[in-house]
Amino acid sequence: MIGSNRRPYITSIDIGTTKICVLIARVLDQTQVEIVGVGKTVSEGLAKGVVVDIAKTVYAIGQAVKEAEIMAGIPIESAVIGISGGHISSQNSHGIVPIKKQEIKVQDIENVLAAASAIPMLQDQKILHVLPQYFILDGREVVYDPLGMYGIRLEVEAHIILGAIASVQNLINCCEKTNIRVDDIILEQLASAEAVLTDDERKLGTAILDIGGGTADLALYHQGSIRHTMVLPIAGNHFTNDLAIGLCTSTKEAERVKKQFGIVHEAYLDKQLFIECKTMQEAQKIVPQQLVLDILKPRAVEILSLIKKEIVSKKLQGYMPMGLVLTGGGSLLCGMEEVAQELFAVPIRIGKPHISFDLPQTLQNPIYATGYGMLLHALKKDARSGTVKTTLNQASHVLERMKSWIIDLF
Ligand SMILES: Nc1ncnc2c1ncn2[C@@H]1O[C@H](COP(=O)(O)OP(=O)(O)OP(=O)(O)O)[C@@H](O)[C@H]1O
Ligand SMILES: [Mg+2]
Repeated sequence: MIGSNRRPYITSIDIGTTKICVLIARVLDQTQVEIVGVGKTVSEGLAKGVVVDIAKTVYAIGQAVKEAEIMAGIPIESAVIGISGGHISSQNSHGIVPIKKQEIKVQDIENVLAAASAIPMLQDQKILHVLPQYFILDGREVVYDPLGMYGIRLEVEAHIILGAIASVQNLINCCEKTNIRVDDIILEQLASAEAVLTDDERKLGTAILDIGGGTADLALYHQGSIRHTMVLPIAGNHFTNDLAIGLCTSTKEAERVKKQFGIVHEAYLDKQLFIECKTMQEAQKIVPQQLVLDILKPRAVEILSLIKKEIVSKKLQGYMPMGLVLTGGGSLLCGMEEVAQELFAVPIRIGKPHISFDLPQTLQNPIYATGYGMLLHALKKDARSGTVKTTLNQASHVLERMKSWIIDLF
């Protein structure tokens, strides 16, 4: 049960490579929120998912926050934020502990996850999430929720996600400079999965690929737990850049052409279609849609082939019988579904955020999957803890606070 002192509002800030999106939600119950404020600005201070210009990022966050606050009619003090970028890495790990009093308590679960977290890592890395995949009791029984069970030895298989301390700290600093306290940080594809995958998909086995502007973020779920994650630093902006180079236009013009006429599969080709665009010298130019396809398709094949290569190299093909769900703005490129279908030969669908309650129609778009998923993640965490975490309010140092973020999803 959520305690009576549950917080009435939750805020998420999706600090993406192309847009910053603030969502303020009123908490209705343990599983539902109503969006009451939306703020969105263009993001120019990030490259491939990481902050490269603090001033521009702080300004853009400030603008988006202000917009959302005006719409919601309330000020916000804290938010959950997402993290991505090439610095993210992950690995599976095993932990084992004796159970002191035979009945498994929360402390035993924390101990076994802490044991699994003892992995070698670089000095500039930090653990972001420790996600239990399954537990083993007394070397025999596989269990997913061992709390309250009896045994003498508890083991866990966990998925550990690591990030660069500097990148995490830069994100937090940008929020704090706009007077927003960071309640929690979540890996972006985990948030997107929260918003677009069904319980069945997570249980039976599904991969989700969030193709954003700077990164394509993969997560694979099976038996309700995370099996694998990966961040590929190639995504939507690469399509735009390819088109700008191929058509000799500005990136702004290439972005327009991509969104309006871009295709990555022959099924959508209109051989009679000729597209007007402006060159760098502001001259008019007419190109056939075939040329746009020829420029964009290889990039789609490249991204999806690299994802497939990762899945095959980790021997995970058998863990995704429910298929692959594409989300993020890059999934809107016409034909992505078909290219994925040909490469993966599994069911493919485009994932939009699930409407829980009164979500404005305009938010039912893959670009909002991460922001909406972060709200759901925060809601779940509050429901599990029963009360609002107030200890974060007083925490002084970012790395101290990160200790309370690492153990998730159980
Ligand atoms: N209708 C569309 N057709 C094709 N591409 C689109 C469309 N709408 C958005 N995009 C592309 O989606 C990308 C932005 O997606 P999204 O908003 O999910 O990224 P982001 O969250 O800002 O970036 P990241 O998650 O990589 O940090 C851009 O490259 C944009 O061009
Ligand atoms: Mg994104």
